[in-house]
Amino acid sequence: VQREMSTLPRVYVTRQIPPEGLRLLHKSGQVQLELWDSDDVPVPRKELLQRVKGVDGLLCVLTEKVDAELLDAAGPNLKVLSTMSVGYDHLNLEELKKRGIHVGYTPDVLTDAVAELTVALLLTTSRRLIEAAHEAKTGGWGTWRTLWLCGYELANSTVGILGLGRIGVAIAERLAPFKVRKFIYTDVAPRPELAKAINAEYVSMDELAKQSDFLAVCCALTPETNKICDRNLFSKMKKTSIFINTSRGGVVNQEDLYEALSTGQIAAAGLDVTVPEPLPTNHPLFTLKNCVILPHIASASYTTRNAMSALAANNLLLGLRGEPMIKGLKL
Ligand code: DGY
Repeated sequence: VQREMSTLPRVYVTRQIPPEGLRLLHKSGQVQLELWDSDDVPVPRKELLQRVKGVDGLLCVLTEKVDAELLDAAGPNLKVLSTMSVGYDHLNLEELKKRGIHVGYTPDVLTDAVAELTVALLLTTSRRLIEAAHEAKTGGWGTWRTLWLCGYELANSTVGILGLGRIGVAIAERLAPFKVRKFIYTDVAPRPELAKAINAEYVSMDELAKQSDFLAVCCALTPETNKICDRNLFSKMKKTSIFINTSRGGVVNQEDLYEALSTGQIAAAGLDVTVPEPLPTNHPLFTLKNCVILPHIASASYTTRNAMSALAANNLLLGLRGEPMIKGLKL
């Protein structure tokens, strides 16, 4: 923790963020920087509540719950909150708004990385790559067999997107060359501008479940989308369909997903996000061969994480100067 005596605005950074962002903050000469100097362990809540006392700015990641308790602990100096994430379900926007705090986040810069990983996870799941590699390594590889480790292909398939935004579009753009027959999506309302780019048809949630051979969840976690992927949805899906989630674990009812996967109601699932994170290694979902679970790495490329770090730093610095952020949330 670094702290100089000065009149510059005090900023607490809750994680050792990638170098680009830290460099910008240091080089700005605009702030007194205090840092939780680890990337391996998140700042303990008690420590965080202490550290934020009197700060003018806070830069956090998605492991920090920004709620009334934290904002009260920070006190009235806090003017700017910048999260190094596109998701903001860890922030209590109402409390932030009430206090007039400006909020920055990091959309766009991670869209390519997240879309790329989503495609990788989809193919890994549909073509059973983890199972296959395991079989090859552990002696399960006998003779070449006609139906062994068969999966499902994208060619001629219908791909459904639950929550069409920048990331959903980027996923569809990448999947189209695999000869997908049709893209469909659902959302709170049609998004014609976005849908046009990928020639996607707006359908009801029911139709999305029924028609999708691959269903990719790309929506934000909100009270409305909390556990929206449940027994009701899975029961309408085809037995051959693949479910992919790279948004937030909270959109899925995991007990219902376990049941759907273990009873063959759907073919397989690929998850980059779970509840909780990390998912305990003894969780039932880990026992299923038809469930691929990754540790929330969709945006994890060096380029993207540095871009997120830089954007979060720039949002913070702009906000502290009272200027519009590059990516600010409208509260
Ligand atoms: C986000 O930004 O919200 C992702 O979950 C992590 O990149």
